[in-house]
Amino acid sequence: MRATRNSTISSVSDLGLKDPAAPRVQPVVPGARSVLVSPVDIEARHVAKRFGETAIFEDVSFRLARGEAVALVGANGAGKSTLLRCLMGLIPVSSGSVHLLGEETSGAKGAALRGLRAQVGLVSQKHNLVPRLSVLSNVIHGLLGQSPGVRHWSHMLAPEASRLAAMQALGKVGLADFATRRADRLSGGQSQRVAIARAIVSRPKVLFADEPCASLDPSAGEDVMALFFRLVKDEGVTVVFTSHNIEHALRFGDRVLGLSNGQLKLDATAASLAPSDLRGLYD
Ligand SMILES: Nc1ncnc2c1ncn2[C@@H]1O[C@H](COP(=O)(O)OP(=O)(O)OP(=O)(O)O)[C@@H](O)[C@H]1O
Ligand SMILES: [Mg+2]
Repeated sequence: MRATRNSTISSVSDLGLKDPAAPRVQPVVPGARSVLVSPVDIEARHVAKRFGETAIFEDVSFRLARGEAVALVGANGAGKSTLLRCLMGLIPVSSGSVHLLGEETSGAKGAALRGLRAQVGLVSQKHNLVPRLSVLSNVIHGLLGQSPGVRHWSHMLAPEASRLAAMQALGKVGLADFATRRADRLSGGQSQRVAIARAIVSRPKVLFADEPCASLDPSAGEDVMALFFRLVKDEGVTVVFTSHNIEHALRFGDRVLGLSNGQLKLDATAASLAPSDLRGLYD
């Protein structure tokens, strides 16, 4: 395969946003959705995690419905990132079980586990873009879970459909004009938006976001959160995000889960909570 095969990408307007795929699920209509009738995308049953002899949390149970946005809050070291990694199946639970999209993550192996992960996206505090590659190549990397292999390492090698999907994702985060720019020539806010494009390009059913705007200044962080949640609500994606920003947790989460002293101390709708209800988690 020749590396120059798809090199027409320098004229990004050719790729445009001309082929918008139909939404995978119906957009959420405010007030018309019942959590009770939505499928359960994530279920934790009596989950405990230990690292060696050190217990991080135990007896964590909850069910998250399709399309819910859930804020996971708690003090530094409470175990939020660890719980996210357990939910994604990146690390095993010590006891209990996690079901993600109907599959038990601890039971899934090989192709089944890869298939599960291909339906899941992750945005983390550090955007982890490959600095020397183009913005477009970095977004195409978001398709590697579904299409592993060298063709999705670079926009030069990627199939046209993948480049088009990546351009669409970049359009959604407002960065279509940056497709050919090297990733290390972006601002922090732009980098995080590229990371969001990379996470949504595969049209995941579930997105995990670990402090998605923690490395940004307040204004850029606000923009990134608003953009992220507009996209996920439009597409009916289930989201679990961690945040140290109580105001973000209450505004962007439909529901808030709070970890403290190794236990799930809070599980309530955001609408029922005031900022002072969360402060106890940080004592
Ligand atoms: N691989 C590991 N091995 C041993 N201990 C670990 C490992 N990963 C995390 N820990 C410990 O587990 C605890 C929870 O860490 P975690 O990163 O989940 O916390 P967090 O709530 O995400 O914190 P923060 O708000 O600072 O991101 C910490 O005490 C941490 O040191
Ligand atoms: Mg963390």
